[in-house]
Amino acid sequence: MPWKVLITASGIARTGQQAEVALRAAGCQLVKPARPGPYRAAELLPLLADSDAVLASLDEYSAAVLESAGRLKLIARWGVGYDSIDLAAATRLGIVVTYTPGLLDDAVADYTMALLLALPRRICEANASMSEGAWRVELGVDVSGKTLGLIGCGRIGRAVARRAQGFNMRVLAYTPRPKPELQDLGIRPVSLDELLGESDFVSLHAALTAENHGMLGREQFRKFRQGAYLVNTARGALIDEEALVDALNEKRLAGAALDVYRKEPLPPDSPLRRAPNLLLSPHQASFTRETGERVSMASSKAIVDMSQGRLPENVLNPEVLNSSALRWKAGR
Ligand code: GLV
Repeated sequence: MPWKVLITASGIARTGQQAEVALRAAGCQLVKPARPGPYRAAELLPLLADSDAVLASLDEYSAAVLESAGRLKLIARWGVGYDSIDLAAATRLGIVVTYTPGLLDDAVADYTMALLLALPRRICEANASMSEGAWRVELGVDVSGKTLGLIGCGRIGRAVARRAQGFNMRVLAYTPRPKPELQDLGIRPVSLDELLGESDFVSLHAALTAENHGMLGREQFRKFRQGAYLVNTARGALIDEEALVDALNEKRLAGAALDVYRKEPLPPDSPLRRAPNLLLSPHQASFTRETGERVSMASSKAIVDMSQGRLPENVLNPEVLNSSALRWKAGR
């Protein structure tokens, strides 16, 4: 039986031509819904009904969705975040989950720096006023010599640190389990309070977990340095968005840049769209042609491999491979 592969990852339409060729060559039948993901649980349920695998956006793979997807053997995440997947339920139900670590660190780190530089140098304001026919020179704030606080310091955080050090910034990091090698990279591990009190720029690079949901809320925004900047290219739910809007309105923060939101796509009437000194983009930090092509090939390779009976790479729940619940049989 050919594998039926649902594609919800929007990256495939723009950067996945080769990946589609590889999937078809492996005998997979591709199902592309009318619009790309992310899909909420209720919309995902019917789409997954007879799928063997999904090339997945940040769709809501809840336990109920996975329980109803009786044929599903593999969720291949196009990207690195898997907070929208109930991994424990997938493992219990014998569904393999893969992701593509290490491929998009540079793209996200470059984009983070672009946001971090655009805020104090007021590039968006300058562009907007030039478009209106004006000539108004914006007074900026220096980046060189300032302190950057990273919340989360895995692969992407470290890639940002390297770039920031090239801009002559001092780098601090808050991470629940600091690794000794951070010091060797010139990154000083600190508590969250210390980071908020000392940083001129704060950038989020933590995976979203049950513990760190809303970790930057009203109390934390009060602890930021007056006039600091915030950048979030990680996950929207790490921040209490209402508290951020208030902090911007009260000018506690000089500015913020968000690429990610609690609810995506960001609703047209979201108060974030009207907040002052807030630069917004639609979750595109990892989205470049070259990176997209690499991620498309790697995520689809997991499907090609499993559909042809081979073990895939980068399995997030390896224990499922030895479980009696496993729906996939190697070698078939
Ligand atoms: C992007 O946000 C990803 O999780 O890959």
